[in-house]
Amino acid sequence: MIDELAKEIEGARRSFLHELEHVQSPEKLAALKERYLGRKSGIIGRYLARLKGVTPAEKPVVGQEINRLKAFVEEALAGARDALCASGRPQWQDHSLPASDLPVGGFHLIAAIQRQIEELFLNMGYEIAYGPEAELEDYNFTKLNIPEFHPARDEQDTFFLEGFDDLVLRTHTSPMQVRYMLDHRPPFKIISPGKAFRKDDPDATHSPCFHQVEGLLVDRGIHFSHLRGTLEAFCRSFYGSGIVLRFRPGYFPFTEPSAEVDISCFLCGSPAGSRAQGQSGSSPAGSSAAGAASRLDPDCRVCKGSGWLEILGSGMVHPKVLANCGIDPEEYSGFAFGMGIERVAMVKYGVPDLRLLYENDLRLLGQFG
Ligand code: DAH
Repeated sequence: MIDELAKEIEGARRSFLHELEHVQSPEKLAALKERYLGRKSGIIGRYLARLKGVTPAEKPVVGQEINRLKAFVEEALAGARDALCASGRPQWQDHSLPASDLPVGGFHLIAAIQRQIEELFLNMGYEIAYGPEAELEDYNFTKLNIPEFHPARDEQDTFFLEGFDDLVLRTHTSPMQVRYMLDHRPPFKIISPGKAFRKDDPDATHSPCFHQVEGLLVDRGIHFSHLRGTLEAFCRSFYGSGIVLRFRPGYFPFTEPSAEVDISCFLCGSPAGSRAQGQSGSSPAGSSAAGAASRLDPDCRVCKGSGWLEILGSGMVHPKVLANCGIDPEEYSGFAFGMGIERVAMVKYGVPDLRLLYENDLRLLGQFG
């Protein structure tokens, strides 16, 4: 009898081990525990019940065997539970805890630059005005003094919208000047960032959709030095306090006079010469950074050795544009400027090809996040 029972107990131990090997969830583990240790019909309980039929002499031996099995089962079950928890299958989870393994996002470089520019102009008291991307042809061209047969209106350059005779995808952010002036009386100063569209084939420096920031200030007695001072303040905050601005005569139908603005190269451009000029407030138009700098790097990756970087277009708002928007040019004057955000990305962050900005490769974009 005692041998038989001992064999059975050993058999039970083996089947327990076999079953335990296949347990993969806390629920299955609980069921296994119930089957072996359960109070009413647990296998070990049934062995204990059978002790009654054993002779007093054999009882301690058999009892010891059963207790050993019980201790073995309890220990193995506890070990299996710990292993299940450690293997990432906890028996409970606190869903109110913050997730720890979510990747952190960031702004796209274009959005980040736009926000930096907005921040600087907000600090100078400017307001931000956003406008529509599908724009009236009248605002995009006519009211900005771009006559009907101007090449900019060419179908080659402009996306016209089928079914809407009077609408185009705006080719620049300048129509926001018109919208704002029609709706507000001076004085005001705004910037207007956003998308613009032109029928350009994508290449390293062109994209059919791109981003600009427009600026406009109108008040009594505004003249060119206000424009210059504003752009200098902005560029020194944005590109570095040592840079020098150069205004070159330019042509835009909506400004008169108009100027293309360059900054001295912030990487190699004449640290000594530029600063000296910068502190005196300006550099004469047409002066060369190369002339001011003996340290120009002919292989500079930013300015390619010229010492200057073209960054924006600007000018005094054309009196006809003011008049087209119901503002008396005898009483008011203003300045305007427009800069390309992609151009800033290329100049300031050394992005060599603007298609990279639209390919959404996180290995590139992540560097600016
Ligand atoms: N709209 C011009 C462009 O897209 C940029 C520009 C130049 C804006 C001069 C201005 C300005 O406000 O005064 O090329």
